[in-house]
Amino acid sequence: MTVFGTRPEAIKMAPIILKMQEQLDEFKPITVLTGQHKEMLDQVMDIFNIQPDYNMHVMKEKQTLSSITTAVISKLDYIINESNPDVILVHGDTTTTFAASVSAFYHKIPLGHVEAGLRTWDKYSPYPEEMNRQMTDTLSDIYFAPTKLSRSNLVKQNFDEKRIFITGNTAIDALKQTVDDDYHHDVLDDIDSNHRIILLTMHRRENQGEPMYRAFTAIRDEVLKHPDIEVVYPVHLSPVVQKMAHRVFDGISRVHLIDPLDVVDFHNMSARSYFIMTDSGGVQEEAPSLGKPVLVLRNDTERPEGVDAGTLKLVGTDYDNIRNNMDELLDNSSIYKKMSQAQNPYGDGQAASRILNALNIFINNESGVNQNEK
Ligand code: UD1
Ligand code: UDP
Repeated sequence: MTVFGTRPEAIKMAPIILKMQEQLDEFKPITVLTGQHKEMLDQVMDIFNIQPDYNMHVMKEKQTLSSITTAVISKLDYIINESNPDVILVHGDTTTTFAASVSAFYHKIPLGHVEAGLRTWDKYSPYPEEMNRQMTDTLSDIYFAPTKLSRSNLVKQNFDEKRIFITGNTAIDALKQTVDDDYHHDVLDDIDSNHRIILLTMHRRENQGEPMYRAFTAIRDEVLKHPDIEVVYPVHLSPVVQKMAHRVFDGISRVHLIDPLDVVDFHNMSARSYFIMTDSGGVQEEAPSLGKPVLVLRNDTERPEGVDAGTLKLVGTDYDNIRNNMDELLDNSSIYKKMSQAQNPYGDGQAASRILNALNIFINNESGVNQNEK
């Protein structure tokens, strides 16, 4: 049983579900959506053409961490009782991830964590994701670590090494199927073809308010300074983010605020951009594969592999620092070239196959995997 509920979880779980569907003699996939996201989740399910078996529809306009957690735990009870899975798989570090992990524990169903072992080691950064993933790892029985570093983080915490598998990141599996040289999107009709495109996303809870305001004003002022750049910003549907984006960017003709892109559009827009600015986790994993420099609008990252590879630079949310770093990428071609030539550290696009192989080893080695009565 896969349980997920937000856009990034769906994008990175989809390759695993599709792979299971190719191996129906070995796996019986049960796809469960919490519906922590709605439109942004449906977009992904439509693109990958995956029909869920259950959808809890938990999303509310002003949802809190507690409201998501309690809704997911209580609604998952019925679903687990009804379908009694052998293993539950969760992905990443959202509140859906954590709540589903607690449910798996309450039902004594073995838990597999996809994208295990990412760490900043700072309880509140990112918030609540760092503790969501740490608590999920504590409850897990099998770990799919994307890189050597994420494996070593798990080993450091004394999780059983035999249960940790390095798989690469399934984000790269998805990317292999989406980028197209002939790509077109309507927003490109409004952009001078000689202009350089900066793709922007920003949504993290700890950045909402002042940090987001500082980052947006820095970007706006750079747009006004450089006549040959345009910003494409598919704005997250969170009302807090929407409000701030419109407050700072409305009326600036070379900033294009658009609806969230579906994942195929987003990957292609990334490939079409000059560089990317983001506080997203997933975007940090994808950009190195596309050879795109990324200015990360955060002070730390659980994805230091991309920083070491040279593609990502942490610039935080300080106004001057953001402007200086944008100037550097826009005006200094050797810095730009260095950042765009880095190697992708997140795998070869075969993560889903490795996860299913590891799952088979785990299931075959465990006696009485599912401790509930069938
Ligand atoms: C969540 C995750 C975050 C992840 C992000 C991916 C938690 C606590 N946070 O944050 O780790 O990086 O998803 O995007 O799990 N909304 C819609 N339609 C949608 C999606 C969201 O209207 O399809 C609006 C709703 O008003 C909702 C709000 O956005 O209440 C916030 O959604 P929520 O899932 O709580 O937080 P995110 O910032 O999306
Ligand atoms: N993404 C998308 N449409 C957008 C912006 C991002 O499909 O308009 C994809 C992106 O390619 C990546 C994922 O969403 O795979 C990242 O999700 P998000 O930034 O919402 O969450 P995070 O990764 O920070 O948890």
